[in-house]
Order: sequence, then C-alpha cells, then structure tokens
Amino acid sequence: MDKKIINLGIFGFGVVGQGLYEVLNKTKGINARIKKICIKDPDKPRTIDMSYFTTERNEILEDPTIDVVVELINDTEAAYEIVTTAMKNGKAVVSASKRMIAENLKSLYELQQKQRTPFLYEAACCASIPVIRNLEEYYDNDLLNAVEGICNGSTNYILTKITEDNIGFQTALQEAQDKGFAETDPTYDIEGIDPKFKLCILLLHAFGTFVKPEEILNIGISRLNDFDISYARQHNKKIKLLAKCRKQNGGVVAYVLPHLIGEKHLLGDVDNEYNGVLVESSFAENQFFVGKGAGGTATGSAVLSDISALTYNYHYEYKKFAQANHLALTHDIQLKVYLRYKKQGQINLADLYTISEKYESANNHYIVGTINLKKLKEAEWLKNKEVNLFVLE
Ligand code: HSE
Repeated sequence: MDKKIINLGIFGFGVVGQGLYEVLNKTKGINARIKKICIKDPDKPRTIDMSYFTTERNEILEDPTIDVVVELINDTEAAYEIVTTAMKNGKAVVSASKRMIAENLKSLYELQQKQRTPFLYEAACCASIPVIRNLEEYYDNDLLNAVEGICNGSTNYILTKITEDNIGFQTALQEAQDKGFAETDPTYDIEGIDPKFKLCILLLHAFGTFVKPEEILNIGISRLNDFDISYARQHNKKIKLLAKCRKQNGGVVAYVLPHLIGEKHLLGDVDNEYNGVLVESSFAENQFFVGKGAGGTATGSAVLSDISALTYNYHYEYKKFAQANHLALTHDIQLKVYLRYKKQGQINLADLYTISEKYESANNHYIVGTINLKKLKEAEWLKNKEVNLFVLE
C-alpha cells in the first residue's frame, strides 16, 4: 500500500463537508489532510480556521499538489463541472452528489475509462451503508436477483414521526431539515426523487444497467393522508418508501413507491433516518444492510472510506457492465396496490388488471387490485395529488 499523505481539496462545507472534517480529525489512521476548501460564500461564519477556505475553484483544480478532489456541493451543474475538470486534470475524485451522478452516469463512466482516474461515490447511496462497494466487489461471482430498500433518510424519519409519534407532516419535515437530513429543496426527498437517483446508481452496480432517472416511476410520501395512515394501522402494516430493482422476464424492473409492509419484514424495523438495503442473490439468498442514511458524520464516514480506498488505488471496475450481460429496464410486472382517491372518476379503473376490494365514503375512496407497472407509469390520473398509492406486499 502506498503510504504517502494524500492532499485533499474539498468543494463545499455544508452538512457533509463539516461531517467529513469531523470524522477526518477523529480518524488517526488515515493518511489524508485537507489542503483547501472551496466555498461559495466567503462572509458566512465558519467553525474552522479561515485559512482553509478559498472561493477560487482553480486553487484546488489546478494545484498539482492536490491528489484528491472531494465534491460535496448542492449545485448539480457546478458539481458536474468540478468533477469532470478534476478528472481531466488527472485527479482522483470523491463525490456525494447523487443527483449529479445519476443524471450523468454514462458520461462519468466514459470519462473514467478515458482518463483512467478513479471516481468514487459511496456516500451518494444510503450514506453510511457500504452498498456500492459491496455490489461491485462481493457479488461479482454471485447471481444477484434484487436490490431493494429504504434509500432516503428524511422520508423514513418523517414516516416514523407521523405514524409512531403522531407528529404532523410539516413538523416532522422541519425536524428532518433542522437535523441536516433533507435536501436543500426537500421536494426531492418527499416526492421520492432523491431515492430514485440512488436507485439509478444501484442499478448500474448491481445489474450493469444504465438508466436515466426519468425512466423510473417515483411516488413519494407527500400525498399521504390520515385515511391512508389508519388503513395501514388497521392492517397492522408499516408505511415505508421503498426503492426497488429486480430481475424480471429477462430484464430488470425498477421503481420508487410507498409500500405497506408487514411488521415482521426486515425493513419494518428500520426507522428514523436509518436506511436498509436487502440484497437477494441466487446462492447467498437474502442479506440485509442497515445504517444511517443521512446526516453529516454518517455521510462523512462514507466519504472518508472512499478517500481511504484511494490510498490503495481502489477504483470501480463496473464489473456487471463489463460482463456484457447487463439487463435492460422493463416495466413488465404486476403490482398489488391500494389506490386511494378523493372523488369518483379520479382513477381509470379500466387500467387495473384485477380489482379485489372497493371502498367508498364522502371524502375517501379506495380500491385494492393489481396493475401493470407500465400502465401505472403512463397513467395520467396518477399525476393527480389527490390520488395516493401503496404497493402491498
Ligand atoms: N436527503 C437525503 C436523505 C440525504 O434524506 O436521504 C442523504 O442522501
């Protein structure tokens, strides 16, 4: 192992940047030190010595003594620019920007092949859970069937608070924001977009499949009402927002949807900002990873682990993609669903393959039935915010 000290140039000093600073300081064994931190606002009060900071990005990108660029900013376009410039300048890069990565996976993959410089992003998926490296390395010779889990800490925190502590949605969301779990624009959390970005990344490392975020159906938890919550309670189920990908009919299906799961389900005990990932493979069968999915030091620890991996020249080989039997995205699966709506006619019942239960009252109607994922994804009526859905397991 190369024991030289790694010089880091960091972009961003928000929740994750400060978390990284803290874990880095408390980890004695790591041969890395921060040389510069590039920030947007020089007037903002900072918790560490001002000599660390610069607002000039080239002080990092063009400093030949900086070996690793750590990108932890909010602005997706600027993040892409920084990451690609750093790689072109021959620097190894670590990033936690799931949106930027998910939206640019193909070009970032190609750039790595061209530049032969490592780009690691463990913190972008389920924060502290080492899921990407495990999918990359451990399951190389196994046949993966499915990867599914809770991939967003904020929504899991909100769901726990509103269903178990009877706290209102807005209060729970505010708490998730105050604790630094939520995105700057929390719409990405509560509409299930953030876990979709993570699912795109997981799809590549699990099945070698490049998928654009817009190809995947996502519904979050913003449509949830008291009726839905009591329905779940009456059926002894927990509400969990799950991101799933699974081999199906020669392809791979993927979606982010709220689910009702039984109390004995492994993910049923994953509460608050914790995330959980279930991996199903042909020989090892079921495995379960759990850990904090949001927060400064939890995410910082994954960034630190990537920096540490760089000290032994680790890089992703994208083995499932290289194996050339990567699977195409399909929507060919029947889902058993609960569909709740406010007024008659708000959903097209003809889109359902079967209907096994129907309920009507003044303000809430629901049906239980099966529907094809492709139909669901294309359904105009599903865009109506007065319609909510649970996948029933
Ligand atoms: N907003 C994200 C979440 C942060 O709540 O999971 C971690 O990716």
